[in-house]
Amino acid sequence: MKGFFITLEGPEGAGKSTNREHLAQRLRGRGLEVVLTREPGGTPLAERIREILLAPTDEPMSSDAELLLVFAARAQHLARIIRPALARGAVVICDRFTDATYAYQGGGRGLSYQRIEQLEHFVQGEMRPDLTLIFDLPVEVGLSRAAARGRLDRFEQEGLTFFESVRSAYLERAKHAPERYRVIDAGRSLSAVQQDLDGLLPELLERALG
Ligand code: TMP
Repeated sequence: MKGFFITLEGPEGAGKSTNREHLAQRLRGRGLEVVLTREPGGTPLAERIREILLAPTDEPMSSDAELLLVFAARAQHLARIIRPALARGAVVICDRFTDATYAYQGGGRGLSYQRIEQLEHFVQGEMRPDLTLIFDLPVEVGLSRAAARGRLDRFEQEGLTFFESVRSAYLERAKHAPERYRVIDAGRSLSAVQQDLDGLLPELLERALG
C-alpha cells in the first residue's frame, strides 16, 4: 500500500490551518486514515528545530544555516512520521514542505535552487508530494493577517520584497508542474475557499484510493 501525500503551501495568514482541518474532516468522513502534521516540526525534536528557526535572535542566522536546519527538521519528520504513515496507506496532510524551502530560502533568501535540489535529493530521495495546494494571497493581506495574530516570528519580520519573492517562487513552481499543484485564491471568503476544496475531493479520493 502506498499512501497519499498532500502538502499545503502559501504565505502567512492564508488560512492553511483552518483549511487543513476542513480537508482532513472530509477525508476522514470517507473512511480514510488522515495524519495532520506541519513543517518545520511534526515531531518533538523537529519542533525544537522549529523554535530555533522562528525565534528572533540578536545573532543573524546565515541563510545556509537556515537551509540546513530546515532540512534537518525535515529528515527527522520524514523518518518518524511521514514515511511510516505513507507506508501504512494513510493520507498525510502536511502544512508546508519542501516547496516552502524553494519559496523562502530560494525566492526569499536568494539561495540557489540547485543547492536546494541537492539537499532535497539527499533527504527525500525520489519522494515528492502527490498533490500541493498553494493558498495564494496578495502579500499585504497575508502580512496584515499575520500581524493581527500578535508577535511576529523571525520570518514574519521580513519586508514586502521578501514576501513578494516568496509568492512569485510558489507561483512559478506551480506553473511548471500543473499536474502536481493547485493554486487556490485564498483572498476570498472561507466558505468560497472550502467550496474549492470540496470540488477537489472526487479527484483526490480517486487518486488516494486508486
Ligand atoms: P508557519 O508554519 O507557522 O507558517 O511558519 C513556518 C515558517 O517557516 C514560515 O514563515 C515559513 C518558514 N519555512 C521556511 O522558511 N522554509 C521551509 O522549508 C518551511 C517548511 C518553512
